[in-house]
This record gives sequence, structure tokens and C-alpha cells, in this order.
Amino acid sequence: MDRKEKVILQNRIENKLSRRDFIRYSSVVFSAAALPGLVNCAGVKPKQDCLKQVTLGQNRNHKKVFESSTLGKIKLQNRIIRSATTLALCDKDGRPTTELADAYIELSEGGVGAIITGVTAAQKSGLPGIQNALLFDRDEFIPDYQMLSDAAHRYNTPIIMQVGHAGRQTRRVITGQQPVAPSPIRDNIYDEEDPRELTELEIKEVIHDFILTVERAQKAGFDGVQIHGAHGYLITGFLSLDSNRRTDRWGGSLENRFRILREIFLGARKRVGDFPMFIKLSAYDHQSDGLRVEETVKIASMLQEVGCDGIEVSCGVVNDGFSTIRVPEIPTEAILAFNHKFKDKPYLVKKIIPIFAPLLVDRPEPIINYNVCAAQEIKQSVDIPVIVVGGIRNLKDIEQIIGGNMADYVAMGRPFIIEPGIVNGFRDQSQSESECISCGYCLIALEEVPAKCFYGELS
Ligand SMILES: Cc1cc2nc3c(=O)[nH]c(=O)nc-3n(C[C@H](O)[C@H](O)[C@H](O)COP(=O)(O)O)c2cc1C
Ligand code: SF4
Repeated sequence: MDRKEKVILQNRIENKLSRRDFIRYSSVVFSAAALPGLVNCAGVKPKQDCLKQVTLGQNRNHKKVFESSTLGKIKLQNRIIRSATTLALCDKDGRPTTELADAYIELSEGGVGAIITGVTAAQKSGLPGIQNALLFDRDEFIPDYQMLSDAAHRYNTPIIMQVGHAGRQTRRVITGQQPVAPSPIRDNIYDEEDPRELTELEIKEVIHDFILTVERAQKAGFDGVQIHGAHGYLITGFLSLDSNRRTDRWGGSLENRFRILREIFLGARKRVGDFPMFIKLSAYDHQSDGLRVEETVKIASMLQEVGCDGIEVSCGVVNDGFSTIRVPEIPTEAILAFNHKFKDKPYLVKKIIPIFAPLLVDRPEPIINYNVCAAQEIKQSVDIPVIVVGGIRNLKDIEQIIGGNMADYVAMGRPFIIEPGIVNGFRDQSQSESECISCGYCLIALEEVPAKCFYGELS
């Protein structure tokens, strides 16, 4: 019996609140007690109540979760997708290992509609700030990536490679160089290494490397690619006025900020024909001058024009707290144990940090279904499929999102870490909700260990 099962059983036996309930209720108490404005989204709070407005049954032809469909030209058996999730199972050069292939076989066996890989860097400078992330900057790795696509195809699950560049959200110890960004950001408390501005030539190289990686993914047997345009990585850095202060043809107007995506999509299309190409976007980024849903709606239409086959809607900037991956409480225990900035702090400092963390770290709410309204707005403005990710945990909500036409697909990240077979559980009705408590420990620990479920405690 694993730890999760033991905890659940113990709680049932003792007739106590489950850990999930405890965190849920303590989060409500915390929210009520928090001073307004301390936990904020830089004054940006998109609509959050659209899910409960949907009444299924009004439209008998509504989409079903368990029906086959076509995303781009990819055939899916159901509408639940594993969102890009870095599992940190690569060798030191960024090559996928057999352990990663095994994880994809398990997901494939578990009935998921499609797997999106963890972010795969198009160049070494674009690796995220963790050890053992995926890198696909040379043809020599094609057989290793072919092993991954074969693994997903073992049980006929389509696999999409997420191609990205971390931009400023990396560390010198990983890439061996100063982080790069569209323009330097000096007023950000979360980035300890000031990123330097990309030159015109370097932007051209980034575009070229994205295109080559897309082509390599096709050669390695993947069913499509997803460009990582979310979470404060390099592409969001260009799109958001908060991080793009350039005055040349890559900054300023939306058309200029979008130029990098235009060149990637049009350039790749010339080389890969009708190979499906998707994007993950942060619909809003919680930054004071940053992206708003109204602007992302325009970006979505521009993406459709350049041949994008579908948009996954997420939010936030990873390095600015817990806006992208929402948590009911700040996972200070995990941060103090694994985060490179905190793990070596003196004992006393480690005792004080948990007291102040809730006041200093952004932790927007709600923590469930938090991108559904944004996805709905984007869906209304484009004809290509829309996928929504972020705090989606139960089948009833998924049916509402799909049946209510708020998105064409849902994606989940953390639930597939604790339960790789969750989709089969939903399908055979042995489970209606994920056991994931959204504690965020798996993400924080990624700096040191491959992704696994800690279920809210280290001991
Ligand atoms: C361990 C871990 C690794 C992640 N890696 C990626 C990644 O490589 N690319 C990405 O776009 N999002 C990544 N995410 C974010 C998820 O795809 C997802 O957007 C987020 O976790 C919210 O969805 P959830 O509430 O279903 O987990 C990661 C999340 C976790 C927990
Ligand atoms: S460690 Fe990750 S997968 Fe496990 S309960 Fe926490 S958030 Fe969910």
C-alpha cells in the first residue's frame, strides 16, 4: 500500500477530515483572514464563474468526453489530454531515458487521449532551471526521441512534443550562460540572475532552432508539436508588454511582439507540411503591464491565421509565485528542502520563512478550474480547437466544460503524476475525481528529483 492509500485509509478509519478536506478548509480560512490585496494578481482578476452557469441537457448534440475526435489531424479516443509535464527523466545531455519511455507507456495504458511531453528545449540556452530536462538541439538525438514516440504509441496514444525556450527562467549552472530575454528585467524579486537582451541575430537563431526542432519531432515519429508560449518562457516574454520593452521590430505593437511566433509557425510550416502544430498560451500573466485575456483573444486569431492547429489555455508566469500552478497553501516545506535559493539557509531563517511566505508569495485564487473562463473567451474568437488546463480535477467539471462548449479538450498535469491511469478510472466510473490535492510538492522537488507524488508531506 503506498503512502496516499495509507493516508486515505487511516483518515477513513479514524473518521477524521481527509487531508484534502483539511487543506480545502484551511485554504478557505486563510483566504478569509488574508488582508485584501496581499494575495493578488497585480489587480488583474479575470472572470472566474462561468463553469457554474452551464446547464447540460439544453443542447442534445453537445460534445462528449468519451468520444473520438480529431485535433489538428490527430485522432483522439477521448477529450482528456496529459498537459506538458517535465518529469526530469533525461540524461545530463537532455536525452530521454528508458524511464521516461516507461512513464509514457504507463500513461498510454492508462487511457489518456493524448500525451504532451515536458518542455523540450530547442537550444541549450533555453533549458529550464532544473537538472535533466529535455533538449533536442541535434539530429543525433532522433533515435532517442523515436523511443519516446514508440512508447506512447504502444497503446495507440498520440504524442505531441512541447518545444520551448525558457528565456529568463533558467540558471547559469544549467545552461552555462547568462539567461536571455527579449529585454532585461531588473525589478523582479524572483530572478536572481539578470537576463540579458537578445540581439537581432540571436532572435533569428532562436526562430531557426525552433523550426529545426519541430522538423526533428516529425522525423522522430511524434504526432504533432506544441510551441510553449506560456508561463513566462521566452515566447510569453515577447508577447507580454511587461517583459518586452524593445523598441525595434520585435517590440511595441502587438504585431511586432507576435512577430517571433509568426516566423516560427510560417517557417516551420514550409518544412513540415501539414504536420500538426499547436501552442500553449498564458491567457493572462498576472503582471502589472502584462497580458490580459482581451489581448490574448487577438493573439489567438493571429495564431489561427498563421496556421496554428489548436490552442491550450493556461496562465501566469512560473517565476512569480503560484499563479500558473495553483496551490491551496504555499508549499514551504518543499521549498525549504529543494529550492536552490532556500535549502542551505540557516536553521533559524528556515523557521521564520514559513511565517512570512504567505504574505510575500503570490498565490492567486481560485485553485480549481481557473482558466475555464479565459478558454471560453478565446474559444468564441477562433475556429481552431481550444484546450483548457489548470486545476481541473473531476469528471463532472470536465463534462460541463466539454458539454458546455467552453473548450474542446481539457488537459491536466498534476493528476497524471499521482494517477497515470485516471482516464481509465473516469471511463469505467471507478473514480470521479482525482486524489491530487494540488499541494505543488512535485513541482518544487523537480529541482532535485524526478517528478513523483509527495501528497503534501516529505516525511
Ligand atoms: C512537475 C510539473 C512539471 C511541469 N512541466 C511543465 C512543462 O514542461 N511545460 C508546461 O507547459 N507546463 C508544465 N507544467 C504545468 C502543467 O502543464 C499545468 O499547466 C499546470 O500544472 C496546471 O495544471 P494542473 O492543475 O492540472 O496541474 C508542469 C507542472 C508540474 C506539476
Ligand atoms: S505532489 Fe503533486 S501530484 Fe501529488 S498531490 Fe501534490 S500536487 Fe498532486
